[in-house]
Amino acid sequence: MSTIGIFDSGVGGLTVLQALRRRIPGADYLYLGDTARLPYGSKSPSTVRRYALNAADHLSRHNIDILVIACNTASASALPALVASSSIPVIGVVEPGVRAALSTGARRIAIIGTEGTIRSDAYQEALYRLSPDVVVEAAACPLFVPLAEEGWGDHPVTNQVAKIYLQPLLDRGVEALILGCTHYPLLKPSLARVAGPGVQLVDSASSVTDAVLSRHRGLATEGGRGKVVLHLTDASDRFRRITQTILGADPEHLEIVDL
Ligand code: DGL
Repeated sequence: MSTIGIFDSGVGGLTVLQALRRRIPGADYLYLGDTARLPYGSKSPSTVRRYALNAADHLSRHNIDILVIACNTASASALPALVASSSIPVIGVVEPGVRAALSTGARRIAIIGTEGTIRSDAYQEALYRLSPDVVVEAAACPLFVPLAEEGWGDHPVTNQVAKIYLQPLLDRGVEALILGCTHYPLLKPSLARVAGPGVQLVDSASSVTDAVLSRHRGLATEGGRGKVVLHLTDASDRFRRITQTILGADPEHLEIVDL
């Protein structure tokens, strides 16, 4: 039985866990959410790298076979450092998200994410590297994380905020919008309404699963239903509520850990 380690700054990355479990139900999962130090999105790249390396160290002490960095901010700022320091395969969300966006056929692609993710240029560079003639737009949307945590995925306030952030991108004719933050899939109803039917919303969760399977083919054949263990660095009522919303139930194995 293999264990997939998943790391996020908080519990938004449980959307990635759910996508992985749908296609790879037989694996065991160890999910680490650094809820005590969230948000990563407004911190400097060197702090995000330090936190991400702590987290990877914690997960590697629990015998994981592959590490998925579900956090876009950490993938954008720390993936090379994580790959260099790890003896197991490490998969980030940036390249899978970019591949998913390009597979829609869109030629004008916008990336939205935290300030850290947008400032890093990781998505923009990956888009140009994989498709040099694509037109790339980008916008940081820092208010989206608290709105998602409030459970306002389909709400007039979220519609309003989304209009302010997305209208300049829509005015420039974007055809696909990469949801470059673990929390944004939770806002899909409002984002889809504001973006309109002509814009495809790209969520990297399923393409991350393809990337995992391409690095560890044996995972697809493991049978049964694996165990899911959650490690959080803080478990306030807010995080418990969001965890329940995403998983659809209370987690069976939840531990509070110190990194
Ligand atoms: N998990 C982060 C990301 O995907 C969003 C939350 C944060 O700022 O830590 O970028």
